[in-house]
Amino acid sequence: MTLPQPTEPTEEGGGPGLRRDDVSSACRSVLDEADPLAKVKAARQAARDWRLGRLDWAFTTPMPDRPARSDRPPLLPPSRMPRRGRAGSARARIAMLHALAHIEYVAIDLAFDLIGRFGASFPHRFVDQWMKVGAEEAMHFALLERRLNAYGARYGDLPAHDGLWEAAETTAADPLARLAVVPMVLEARGLDVTPSLISRFEAADDMRSGRILRRIAEDEIGHVAAGVEWFRFLCDRERIDCVQNWQLQVRRHFRGTIKPPFNDSSRAKAGLTKEMMAGVAAPCDLSHTNFVAEGGAIPDRG
Ligand SMILES: [Fe+2]
Ligand SMILES: [Fe+2]
Repeated sequence: MTLPQPTEPTEEGGGPGLRRDDVSSACRSVLDEADPLAKVKAARQAARDWRLGRLDWAFTTPMPDRPARSDRPPLLPPSRMPRRGRAGSARARIAMLHALAHIEYVAIDLAFDLIGRFGASFPHRFVDQWMKVGAEEAMHFALLERRLNAYGARYGDLPAHDGLWEAAETTAADPLARLAVVPMVLEARGLDVTPSLISRFEAADDMRSGRILRRIAEDEIGHVAAGVEWFRFLCDRERIDCVQNWQLQVRRHFRGTIKPPFNDSSRAKAGLTKEMMAGVAAPCDLSHTNFVAEGGAIPDRG
């Protein structure tokens, strides 16, 4: 959080001589933190300040084109990501935890960028929900970092995928596009791949990592559902067809392919119907389903 600056007292309070933060400055303070644990702290602080009514409903601070990043982990294009070691080995599990921690780290920025960039055009409840999402992403990161520590590793030890912010850049001008792609495509992909990751950890007798991933998977259904809810809100407000528009936005703004098989029950809980998926899904190719564990690419979600 930025420190209170001396200024005139405001009607909203904040005490004489103290300027209150607003929603956008609180979000910006998260995006400007490069250090992972400082980012987690800033995210929790922003969510708490919002919950306690300490942030003004104002959007005076612009969001950055790219969030702050430290030189650890080194960011590589997906094609240059190293292989992750023999399946079932501790090295492979560390690599999986590291890839997932990186996704959660970027997901913190994605949540606060969404609020700070687009929150002004939504009701307060939008900020309620996405502040909660941002705080959950911070918690997910912290849980995975702790698991890495238990393996004698830490976030930053391995290279990470440098493609995760791309979707934020290509949808920076339009909340309809942002919601269509980030929660409804990228985060939804996590719902599909997480069950196989849980099985891999549990098969290696790492029940604690399995439990963490179950917890994350439950939370992520809520994140996708929030995306669907606010995407529908915008479609209703603009009196446009939600399903057709989602498919249009995905074709226009998402460069990857949406690969089955899908986790239909988790997707249905989040409000992503089979009808919606049918219009955008690539032909089924089972060779892509375990790509986290196999090395190479990682699931693009938070
Ligand atoms: Fe998420
Ligand atoms: Fe997450």
